Amino acid sequence: MNNENQLTEVSTFEKEVSEGLNAFPKYLSSKYFYDEVGDKLFQDIMAMPEYYLTETEYDILKNQVAQICTYFDRNKTGFNLVELGAGDGKKTKVLLRYLLDNQYPITYNPIDISKNAISGLVTNLKEEFSQLEVRGQVGEYFEVLDRLHKKSDQKQVILMLGSNIGNLLHPRAIQFLKKLKNTMHKEDLLFIGFDQKKDPQVILNAYNDTTGITEAFNKNVLVRINKELGGNFNPDHFKHWEVYDPESGTAKSYLVSTKKQSVVIESLSQEISFEAWESIHTEISQKYDDTIVNWLAKESGLEVVTSFTDKKEYYKNYIIKRKN
Ligand code: AVI
Repeated sequence: MNNENQLTEVSTFEKEVSEGLNAFPKYLSSKYFYDEVGDKLFQDIMAMPEYYLTETEYDILKNQVAQICTYFDRNKTGFNLVELGAGDGKKTKVLLRYLLDNQYPITYNPIDISKNAISGLVTNLKEEFSQLEVRGQVGEYFEVLDRLHKKSDQKQVILMLGSNIGNLLHPRAIQFLKKLKNTMHKEDLLFIGFDQKKDPQVILNAYNDTTGITEAFNKNVLVRINKELGGNFNPDHFKHWEVYDPESGTAKSYLVSTKKQSVVIESLSQEISFEAWESIHTEISQKYDDTIVNWLAKESGLEVVTSFTDKKEYYKNYIIKRKN
């Protein structure tokens, strides 16, 4: 990230922290969980047995890779695989290995806002897949997708794994999918993971692990405010709290103030007061079923082509295309 971006980033962070902590009820965006510490905590979450999403999606890809890749490119005419959110590439490598071993002519374009994430992934992939053409792209998803769309007529398959869309409430998910649709040509495909509704206890356990990793991840937003905005939050004076509503399919994370307290945030020149047991809403992790995914697609001008799931039907990867 260059200095200018960093400055913009900080001021957006300041603005959103100020808005969220002065609102009633208080809220902060889960996008602020992720810095170097938060990225590492999220890696740890993905390795936890309770957080079934990662392993389940990995198994879907591993067990059904041939059928999935056939949908991507039935005649092996070639396509550009574009991934939103680079991650560590573990799941994507399953697809890449199969595509290369089976002579699909592909290029791979991982997109991420973090230059670090992209350069790490590109170096790693070049070592493991010497024959793969990888073009890492640093930037906002839509800015890069627009650029790719304008630059080439080649078919694109856009990957969005990890049920990352679940961190958006439905209206924002529709906004996001509409924008995505506008960057797609008629023959392009979206391959996207949606965590499914299931036994509410299984969902609750995934966001409420006993080791405290999710708690530390949730509290990392307070740690970042301390580090980056001169805050004096004591994370021990907040409790990680998770609820899951089986009706709406929404898991919600909160930080609950365990006592009446005030926190100073220097760069905002503000003192924020908390009543005892007052909450800060920090994240939503939406769970889905076919009806909801079909509805989201329809509202966005898209349609579901097919889907792939695991034995327990905990998770689904959908292939989606433009409606017209
Ligand atoms: C990135 N995102 C899809 C994760 C989720 O499941 O909502 C983030 C996460 N939050 C707590 N655990 C994992």
